[in-house]
Amino acid sequence: MTIVLEARQLVKKFGGITATDHIDFRLPEGARHALIGPNGAGKTTFVNLLSGVLVPTSGEILLAGKDVTGWSARRRAHAGMARTFQINQLFADLTPVETLMLTIAERENAGWAWFRPVGARTDFVDEAVQLLADLGLSDIAHLRVGELAYGKQRLLEIAVALAQKPKVLLLDEPAAGVPEHEREQILDVVAALPSSVALILIEHDMHLVFRFAKSISVLVNGGLFVEGTPDEIANDPRVRQVYLGEEVVHV
Ligand SMILES: Nc1ncnc2c1ncn2[C@@H]1O[C@H](COP(=O)(O)OP(=O)(O)O)[C@@H](O)[C@H]1O
Ligand SMILES: [Mg+2]
Repeated sequence: MTIVLEARQLVKKFGGITATDHIDFRLPEGARHALIGPNGAGKTTFVNLLSGVLVPTSGEILLAGKDVTGWSARRRAHAGMARTFQINQLFADLTPVETLMLTIAERENAGWAWFRPVGARTDFVDEAVQLLADLGLSDIAHLRVGELAYGKQRLLEIAVALAQKPKVLLLDEPAAGVPEHEREQILDVVAALPSSVALILIEHDMHLVFRFAKSISVLVNGGLFVEGTPDEIANDPRVRQVYLGEEVVHV
C-alpha cells in the first residue's frame, strides 16, 4: 500500500489552545477517508496544516514521500495537493470556463500566456469544457461566476481542485450552507470523483460520511481519538460517547 500523504507528530498551537495534538496520520493512494469529530475538534486546522495554509508548531508533513513541511500552499498544489477553496477565492467576474483555464495554465506553468493570442490554447479550453461536463456544469459554463447559485459555486471549487490533477484532494464540508435541493448534485459529484485521487472529506452529515468513507478518523480536542472502518467507528462505544447529545452515528 503506497502512502501518498503522511503527518508525523503534527502539532498546532494557537496561544494556549492546542488545535492539533501530536497527530500521526497516513493516507493511502486512492483513499476514501472521512474526518469527523465535534465542532472545534481541530478538523479544519488539520486540513489547513496539510495543505500549507497554516504552519505547524512542530511535526512533519510528507507528500508522496517528500517532506513538504516548509513548502507554501502553492508549491504543495504543484506537487499534487489540492483542496476546495472558500467561495470568495473564486473570481466573480470570470466564467467557469475562464476560471478553469486559469487553473490549467497555472498547472502547466503557462501563466497568462494563454491569454495573449485569445483561444490559442484550445487544449486548455477543451479540458475546461470537458471537466465542466464531467461535473454536470455544462449549462453554466459561460455565465459569470458571481451569478451562479451557491451550490454551483461549490461544485466549481471542486472542478478547480480537480483541474490541478491532484494526488490528494481535501474537501472541507463541501456541501455546507448549500440548500437542500442542490445538495444531491454535490454528493453525487463527491461519490464519483476519480479513484486515482486520494480523498479526505470533512463532513457533519453522517449519512454522507458512511456512504462515502472506506476509513474514518475521529478527532477530539485536537487529537486522533479513534481510526477504523465505518463499521468499527459506528460500533465503537467511545465514539458514541463523544457524539452524545449530537446526531447519533449510524450506518
Ligand atoms: N486562527 C485561529 N486562531 C485561534 N484559534 C483558532 C484558530 N483556528 C482555530 N482555532 C481554534 O482551534 C480549535 C480547532 O478549530 P477548528 O480546526 O476550526 O475545528 P473544527 O474544524 O473541527 O470545527 C478551536 O478551539 C478553535 O477555536
Ligand atoms: Mg471546521
